[in-house]
Amino acid sequence: MRFVFLGLPGAGKGTQARFLSGRLQIPQVSTGDILREHVQEGTSLGIEARTYMDRGEYVPDDLVVRMVEERLQEPDATKGFILDGFPRTVPQARALDAVLAEVEAPLDGVVKFTITDPIAIRRIIGRFTCPVCKRTYHETWSPPENDRLCDDDASPLEKRTDEDALTVKRRLAIYRQQTEPLEGFYRARGLLIEVDAEAPAAEVSERLVRALAEASG
Ligand code: AP5
Repeated sequence: MRFVFLGLPGAGKGTQARFLSGRLQIPQVSTGDILREHVQEGTSLGIEARTYMDRGEYVPDDLVVRMVEERLQEPDATKGFILDGFPRTVPQARALDAVLAEVEAPLDGVVKFTITDPIAIRRIIGRFTCPVCKRTYHETWSPPENDRLCDDDASPLEKRTDEDALTVKRRLAIYRQQTEPLEGFYRARGLLIEVDAEAPAAEVSERLVRALAEASG
């Protein structure tokens, strides 16, 4: 199964991608996570990407497309994948089409998680992330058992560098300009599946499973 997850920053793409990845045993391919790893390791891609990410802007298409092409060639992606945060622009979507056409492996669905701006902002401002396993927590809605330590591996939780209120607002505006057009792009192909993502995470997971079952007929 091959899916794309769309939605505002904070919509819960990462949370639901982790859930579905475990359920279907297919990898979650998060371009945000891969880029942050490059930043952490100080690779040339990471050094270039950081300037865009810290401002809440998109990393140039050619860099991200190359990175995703390489990732999808890894053996675990041959049985399927969940693209979390890619594509984000029409040129990225066209590049993905070309990659998938080459291996005759079309997308099964594009899930759009819907939330309002105020909820997106509250979710991001309250988020903490484990730098090791990438699990996310929220100070109000899903706090860790021990203050600021990951429940799974006890690593100290961190805030990302793009989570201040001003940067979040810029990320929302950029999503509207550059990523929202993809909804029409995929709707026109009958691939768009909309999931209301304002409920608690477990309920959104149930809605996701139901929506995917309905879409597959
Ligand atoms: P990326 O890391 O992909 O960020 P994003 O898309 O802005 O999304 P987020 O990770 O902020 O949110 P999410 O929807 O995954 O929500 P989450 O599940 O964490 O990208 C970061 C940057 O990298 C971009 O700005 C750009 O610079 C660059 N980049 C990445 N991909 C790129 C591309 N393709 N092209 C160009 N540049 C690219 O949930 C958020 C919080 O809410 C968490 O605390 C979580 O615990 C909580 N939560 C989740 N669901 C619920 C729920 N249902 N109820 C209550 N709380 C919930």
